Amino acid sequence: MPGKTLLWDQTLFRRGELFEFDHVPEHFVHRDSQQRSLIFGVRPALRGMRPLNILCVGPPGTGKTTAVRKAFEELDEHAPGVITAHVNCQASQTRYTIFSQIFQRLIGHAPPTSGVSFKKILDEIAKHLVQNEKILIVALDDINYLFHEKEADNVLYSLLRAHETHPGTKIGVIAILSDDSLSYVFDPKVGSIFLPEEILFPRYAWDELKGILSDRAKLGFYPGVLSQDVLDVIVDYTSEAGDLRVGIDLLKRSALNAEERASTSISEDDVRLAYKKSRMLHLSRMIASLGSGEQAILAILAMRAVAKGQEGEKGEGEEKKMVETEQTAGDLYAAFHESTGLGYTRFHAMLHKLATLRLIDAEIATEGVHGRSRRIALKYDSGDVLGAMQPRSL
Ligand SMILES: Nc1ncnc2c1ncn2[C@@H]1O[C@H](COP(=O)(O)OP(=O)(O)OP(=O)(O)O)[C@@H](O)[C@H]1O
Ligand SMILES: [Mg+2]
Repeated sequence: MPGKTLLWDQTLFRRGELFEFDHVPEHFVHRDSQQRSLIFGVRPALRGMRPLNILCVGPPGTGKTTAVRKAFEELDEHAPGVITAHVNCQASQTRYTIFSQIFQRLIGHAPPTSGVSFKKILDEIAKHLVQNEKILIVALDDINYLFHEKEADNVLYSLLRAHETHPGTKIGVIAILSDDSLSYVFDPKVGSIFLPEEILFPRYAWDELKGILSDRAKLGFYPGVLSQDVLDVIVDYTSEAGDLRVGIDLLKRSALNAEERASTSISEDDVRLAYKKSRMLHLSRMIASLGSGEQAILAILAMRAVAKGQEGEKGEGEEKKMVETEQTAGDLYAAFHESTGLGYTRFHAMLHKLATLRLIDAEIATEGVHGRSRRIALKYDSGDVLGAMQPRSL
């Protein structure tokens, strides 16, 4: 019923929770082979054996987290000898906080906040597993957030060597890596004990995206809210972004826009307006997980690029403009130090982290009059970076 007016207390959402990112869908389609591989890997744990380690790899929004959550739901229900721990490495970015999460999952409460060493936490985890004869499977979700300062190596090493330091413990790891083009090389001492089964999560095809989004809309909205034509527009945008998350966010934001207009159905304009926000989802999520110093570096780079870009528009060539958006490491550090008061060691570590998250390119070396110098550039559009930062203060 396009054009019909919504009363102030009416809504288009029949089940709003279906559009939240942590929702685990009842119908999880097109991922049968990945789910079979996951079950194959964890099955030894059902017979009291150490499970195989697994690495789930694929671009954002391809169902990696959902597949592991589904497998964990089944284990929690049917495998009393197994304890699962799903850890979000974006929220817990150090070995200490990750093991605190695992401790909490096992013992039921967080370890005391101060004065407890890492070793003590590991001792307690191992003791709990051995005494209760349980096998632990840890999912390290978005493990790329641990690639700075070798934290991923430290975490994997501690988990996978636990049976040597604490005899009798059986722990398996499922690492989830969001981005198949990330080339992180694990430390050799970790590589030799991790040896994971790799499960690939390819992007969904257009038809698959349409099926999933249509299903979600049917369950989540009232009838008549989303027409086939408008659904196609949403699928086009989702396919362009290559991320199903964007599509689900588009459904939610478009419906909110329609409600704002007091309309009972979503229009193409509602979708177009929503896409401005939805397409930045991934970038916003990454930026939101950064510390204030790292955000300061991005903000300086972006603001300088915008300023230089505006100068460049006064008649200079396109090629020149691209070069102008880079900063030398020295210049950037001076501005960083002025705004944060932090020193070079911290700055260097932060640059490294931003580079491993592929937010910046920090490997550009140029020959200049003063010899070689390192140049830093954003890997995203500077306007988008500033836009994605807006919800938090710069
Ligand atoms: N096959 C599917 N059927 C139904 N919903 C799906 C399917 N795959 C993914 N989803 C939904 O898409 C959203 C993103 O999926 P998920 O979080 O599992 O992706 P991901 O691969 O872990 O992404 P990221 O790398 O960004 O963490 C979730 O809301 C999930 O419910
Ligand atoms: Mg995920």
